[in-house]
Amino acid sequence: MKTDWFTSARFGMFIHWGIYSIPAKGEWSYANDPWNPGEYEDFAKKFDPENFDPEKWANLAKAAGMKYVVFTTKHHDGFCMFDSHYTDYKVTNTPFGKDVTKMVVDAFRKAGLKIGFYHSLPDWTHPGYADPESPEFYHRKVVHTPTAEEYRSFLDYLYSNVEQLMTGYGRIDLLFFDYTSKYKDEVDYFERERLLEMIYRHQPDILVNDRLAFSKDKVCDFDYYTPEITVMNQAPQVKGKPVVWESCATMNDNWGYVAGDENYKSLTTLVSGLLGCVSQNGNLLLNIGPMADGTLPEKTVERLNGLAEWFRLNGEAVTGCGKSEFTPPFGICYTQKGKSLYAGVLVPPMGDIILPQLKGKVKKVTLLRDDSASMLIDFWGFELLKSDELRIRHPGLQTGDVLKIELV
Ligand code: GLC
Repeated sequence: MKTDWFTSARFGMFIHWGIYSIPAKGEWSYANDPWNPGEYEDFAKKFDPENFDPEKWANLAKAAGMKYVVFTTKHHDGFCMFDSHYTDYKVTNTPFGKDVTKMVVDAFRKAGLKIGFYHSLPDWTHPGYADPESPEFYHRKVVHTPTAEEYRSFLDYLYSNVEQLMTGYGRIDLLFFDYTSKYKDEVDYFERERLLEMIYRHQPDILVNDRLAFSKDKVCDFDYYTPEITVMNQAPQVKGKPVVWESCATMNDNWGYVAGDENYKSLTTLVSGLLGCVSQNGNLLLNIGPMADGTLPEKTVERLNGLAEWFRLNGEAVTGCGKSEFTPPFGICYTQKGKSLYAGVLVPPMGDIILPQLKGKVKKVTLLRDDSASMLIDFWGFELLKSDELRIRHPGLQTGDVLKIELV
């Protein structure tokens, strides 16, 4: 199946980068902050990221165990981070002058990662896009109803940009559209089918996410589904069936770079989130928000290096793994690949761990971090166990540790 690489990859890097990184107030700044006319757009004249080193980003991602990247080619602010043939509001018209999307693609492809494009459907700079959910309307009460021509020209613009992205950058593995609001649920505002036909014509193997529609049940099946900043309790279901899914999440509290946002999740939270997604057959797309000059915030690098260290020892519990047929005990999260069952420690145990359903089914249990063996307890403390429960002992377990349970 064309989703095979994706459901095996399990871990990707999201990158939110644009001219919004200059004011450093997040990617919604254009709409949320009180800019004078033209003031925000003028950031394009300042975009000159002297520390932009996409190979460094790619190597950090690769070391962290990430297998694909999703890069913001255009966010809602309308600024194109690629050399769009259809607007002047683009990265090649900045002092930097180069197509950063192409540079990101080249670097990540060279590092062996799959390539994904984020592309915003809403465009706050285009008169043909209007939506009561976008802050232009919601906060500023500016109401503009597009004329038929404006709407048509918006659709053409969207279609042409996407077609350029689908034809100018080699093989593209993922397309992450963002988003359709509930106000456009009934009208097919983006002419979804026409767009998808063109995309699959140019990139037959590409996976397209679900955000071309608000109510998923009403329309065609999408290749994968993208809940946000959460770990699902189970694989989301569409039309009664579990679907391929990926949760995207921020490392701190924002997508685009926000100066002063130091509220980073701990390494163990990130690891738990990753294991949590995999345990429900999902992926984690973890975001970084580079600074305007291309530097990655120190804590971002710290977290990526921490993940790399964790992944080096425990990565086999992620790549190629999915939901286990077994039920984990308190504080543990299971992932599984064939006869290898992985028990990720979310809460370090009080003592011994009691594994439901596994009595008589286990050859050996080892701690991935140091290869030490767990003791299988069959001489004591089993009188109150259920007959299929197995009691094991492994002192010193910490959050983020993974026990490999080899099944018979
Ligand atoms: C949220 C944010 C948007 C971001 C997206 C990523 O919807 O509003 O700015 O790009 O998440 O999924």
